[in-house]
Order: sequence, then C-alpha cells, then structure tokens
Amino acid sequence: MTTTHDTQVATAAASGANATDRFQTDKSPYEAVKDVPPERVNELAREVLESIHNTIRTHKVTYAEYNALKAWLIQVGQDGEWPLFLDVWIEHVVEDVATEHRKGNKGTIEGPYYVPNAPDAVDNTIPMRDDESGTPLTWKSTITSVDGTPLQGKVELWHADNEGFYSQFAPGIPEWNLRATFHADEQGNFEIHTIQPAPYQIPTDGSCGKLIAAAGWHAWRPAHMHVKVSAPGHELLTAQLYFPGDPHNEDDIADAVKPELVLDPKQQDDGSVAINYNFVLDPQS
Ligand code: BEZ
Ligand code: FE
Repeated sequence: MTTTHDTQVATAAASGANATDRFQTDKSPYEAVKDVPPERVNELAREVLESIHNTIRTHKVTYAEYNALKAWLIQVGQDGEWPLFLDVWIEHVVEDVATEHRKGNKGTIEGPYYVPNAPDAVDNTIPMRDDESGTPLTWKSTITSVDGTPLQGKVELWHADNEGFYSQFAPGIPEWNLRATFHADEQGNFEIHTIQPAPYQIPTDGSCGKLIAAAGWHAWRPAHMHVKVSAPGHELLTAQLYFPGDPHNEDDIADAVKPELVLDPKQQDDGSVAINYNFVLDPQS
C-alpha cells in the first residue's frame, strides 16, 4: 500500500481528457459498426435530426440560442467531455435496450471511469492507500448461472474514494487505487474487502457542468460500486451497486439506479459493514 498527499486539483478538463483517451484506446467503435447497412444509418440519423427540427419548431428556437448551442458543442469536444455527456444522459437507455432479454441480474451503465486489466486483488483486498478514509466493507457472495450452476467467474471492481475521486482520472491517487479483479472459487464463492465509497458530483467546471447550471439541475450521483462480472460461456454483466438511504438514489443525474441494484448492508460491531449480493449470469446464446 502507498500513501499520497495530494496537492494537485482535479479539473473537468484533465478528467475529460483521460476519459476520451481511455475510450479511444479500449473500444473500437468504428470497427464494431463498419458493416451497418446505409438503410439503418439513414433511419437513425433521420429520426434524430427530425426530433431536433421538431424541438426547434415547437419552441421557436432563436439564432442566439442556436449559436449558444454551437459554441457549447464545440466546447464539449475541447473539454474532452463527450464520454461524460453521453454516459450521463444517453447510456442508461442503450443499456436497458441491450439487456432487456436477460433473466439473470439487472445491470446498469459502465460510465466513463472503467479501466480494463485491473490487477488481481491480494488477500481479497482492493488496493488502497495506508490512510484511505471510509467505512470498511466486506462482501462475501457467489456467482451462478440462471439454472443455479456455480460459476468460477471473476469480478472486476472499481469505485470512487471517500472524496468521490477515481484513480487514473483525478490527480495524486496511486494508479490502481480502489480498482482490482477478484476471482471466484469452484463453488462460485468470492470475497472482497474494500471501503464504502461516497456520493459525488460529476465534474461541474466543464461544459457538462455549464449545461447543468444553465438548466438548474444538480450534478450528483449516489454512492456506488462498479462491477463487471464475467464467466466462461456467459454474458458479461456490467452493474453498479448502491446504498440504501442515499438521497440521490431517487434523482441520480445519470438515471442509472434500479431497485434491484440497491444493497442491504449490515452494520458490524467493529464499525464495518457487510454485504451479500449474489450475481446470476445469463448463458451466451
Ligand atoms: C460513474 O458511474 O462513475 C459515471 C457514470 C456516468 C457519468 C459519469 C460518471
Ligand atoms: Fe462511478
């Protein structure tokens, strides 16, 4: 474990640039859609444009508003905030549609702060600083298939720290802090030791923050832990788990909370919390 003393300041521009780099490195977006027929592109692009035209006509959008939009869109790119914008306001619907056939666990959005290939946890404990603040959390559960067969799968876990910052997206935090891969045994059992993360606001000093302020919204996400759960022959489950009583479970800016994803933590005598949250995966068809 390491200790850091952070004197640097987290900015939307730095976090946005990291998220944009990450996306371009990890995903092959053009490769995945290169064979999409023109009829589908035509249908989707036309409908999106038509819904914008309808909004302009309905609300008699002015040239001043049109130019403000143009300036803002340019700024979103310059801030590197396209991953943030899309994952806050669009991804939850894409995720719903992509997983509506599933019989196993509900998932939710990945968001912009996933980093692949997190190192294996040592002693079932996520890497953290010696002075990491936050309530210790222990999680013992299982991974099974929808028919109850235990799965020797793995759980990639990543979450914010007690200040709401993610390693690799905010400065002064060790590279793999609060990120690790956990492996289940042959019975599908796994054990995780970490800390309970805090609620956080998405960056408010960039263009997404400008939209939020201009519209009179808030920027909060409830406290959550992100997971990717995988096992051979099964669909990857991407989810976030939430804590009961968090006021932002009801008004998450990213609209990603589902009732099935809210934990039932049990307070322990030593001040820690224990959770049991099992994963049921759908076989690949
Ligand atoms: C997150 O879960 O970390 C997240 C999701 C969408 C936008 C920003 C952050
Ligand atoms: Fe998050």
